[in-house]
Amino acid sequence: MSDYRRRTFIKFSLATMAGGALYFWDKMFVTSKKNNPSMQTTVPYDPTKQVVFYRDFIVVNREGKVVVYTSHCSHLGCVINKKEKGLLACPCHGSLFDLSGAAVKGPAYKALKKLPYHWDKSGKSLIVKLG
Ligand code: FES
Repeated sequence: MSDYRRRTFIKFSLATMAGGALYFWDKMFVTSKKNNPSMQTTVPYDPTKQVVFYRDFIVVNREGKVVVYTSHCSHLGCVINKKEKGLLACPCHGSLFDLSGAAVKGPAYKALKKLPYHWDKSGKSLIVKLG
């Protein structure tokens, strides 16, 4: 096999593998989220806690008004899992968000995305819609 043909074959093979990987990535993660609008989870609500961190979201009680934010940082998506000096702190690059979700210290500059939720029938649990 000539050198030119071998290189062409390798390029074609790599392009095919990359295309296949993108296809399966889309099928596994992107498309499944779009096609599954019922992705939701139920968590108990504790009115005594101002902030409760979950893997995919953060429940914030702002003087009785409950807001749910994604826990994925608006910078590069790290999971925000702690509160420092009254702010939501990203462990990766140090971004801070206030309890309204606004970025107050970078590198993140976008606010945290709010997630829709509703109360369960008992009124003691939140049903959070993910994705
Ligand atoms: Fe949160 Fe970079 S991912 S600050």
